[in-house]
Amino acid sequence: MNAFKSIPGTFDILPDGYSNGGDEVAPVRMWLHLEETVRSIMARYGAEEIRTPILEPTELIARGIGALTDIVTKEMFAFERGSTNYVMRPEVTAPVMRAYLQHNLEQRGGTQRLFYIGPCFRAERPQKGRYRQFHQFGLELIGSEDPRADAETIVSLRDVLEGLGLSRYTLRLNSLGDEQSRPAFKRALVDFLTPLADQLSEISRNRLASNPLRILDTKIDTERTLLADAPRLSDFIDEASRDHHAMVKSLLDAAGLAYVEDPFLVRGLDYYSRTAFEFESPLLGAQSSIAGGGRYDLLSKEVGSKQAVPAVGFAAGMERILLACAAEQVAMPAEPRVDVFIVALGDASAAWAFAEAGRLRGSGLKVAYDMKGRSMKAQMREANRQRARFVAIVGDDELVQGVVQLKDMDGGNQETVSPSAIAGRISAAI
Ligand code: HAM
Repeated sequence: MNAFKSIPGTFDILPDGYSNGGDEVAPVRMWLHLEETVRSIMARYGAEEIRTPILEPTELIARGIGALTDIVTKEMFAFERGSTNYVMRPEVTAPVMRAYLQHNLEQRGGTQRLFYIGPCFRAERPQKGRYRQFHQFGLELIGSEDPRADAETIVSLRDVLEGLGLSRYTLRLNSLGDEQSRPAFKRALVDFLTPLADQLSEISRNRLASNPLRILDTKIDTERTLLADAPRLSDFIDEASRDHHAMVKSLLDAAGLAYVEDPFLVRGLDYYSRTAFEFESPLLGAQSSIAGGGRYDLLSKEVGSKQAVPAVGFAAGMERILLACAAEQVAMPAEPRVDVFIVALGDASAAWAFAEAGRLRGSGLKVAYDMKGRSMKAQMREANRQRARFVAIVGDDELVQGVVQLKDMDGGNQETVSPSAIAGRISAAI
């Protein structure tokens, strides 16, 4: 039987970085660094972490994201067990809204700022930057329709990117108007495109019937040319949404965050109204969207709330952000080191190494030792691989004499010490 491999579109995250079919997977310490940056920036915004299940009711996602979206029609990992329909969450916004409603979080008062970090699942065709299991961090700000909520959401994402040391990104911004604006625009777009249908690709022709707004996302040049004369969403936007959008823009200006207005930006999920935005990196090729989000005042009712709950949020693709970090060569955290590696030569020493490692760990030090009874040379090689700051070398004879050789791998100094002095010597040096 062939050895098992991870499923295409999924990957292992290992202590060291590696190349996964041409795609670089960052080492785990870089993932931790990203997660710590997210947590520390979110804390500055008073955001609190929320963790929701991977499995959600399929109906929640279908209703929340929209039954005709690509995600719901083609990309869900969904299955049935007994009488329950499960989906592995393709995103976290609808689940967070479900949790907010289920636990009456509005009773905590004020605006809820909820952030998350975790895996999502979409059955897309895997390619560089596009996976079947990927990870998002995101923020959902629930309970406010104030334009400051939109601007703060966007600015907090900027702060995470800057906190990581990224600088080459662009922000695209649009307003989708209120409940009425989109249907009116959709009708006008269909009226405009229907006589031109034979000039559209098959995908766009299908979308004309199912999800016409998605045609605006086309990357095909001839279609983009056709769309240049198409009706503009901005002409269908209601007065209140227009004012809201103007306010969001002036708040972004005040925060020193540049944006490009993109009247074609509609996003792939149906729950948006008013603000929609995307952050892109020019360094990532086809999958350039590193994060996206917007306002979703209509979602709560779609998933069963009697009252509309205004909300806005973003989600960022962690793999893509890490690819952008690599492309921009931002500083990575240093490789971890052990404080001391015990080189034990002989059976009695090997037993002692186990006990001594326990004592040293008890005093807070990071300790490793060899478990294969190998040669001194092989053990020293292992100490180097683990970037040991000190090496404690002991043989069975030294053990009887009650001495250990302690070598400072940075300074090169070597001295003979009693075992009881090891912890103190090392703690003084590190
Ligand atoms: P989304 O645009 O579908 O929005 O996904 C957000 C980000 O997740 C994308 O910009 C991308 O970086 C990453 N992403 C999506 N699919 C994949 C994939 N197959 N492989 C790798 N990365 C991927 C949402 O999910 C919304 N929930 C955002 C939101 C939050 N809106 C309001 N609040």
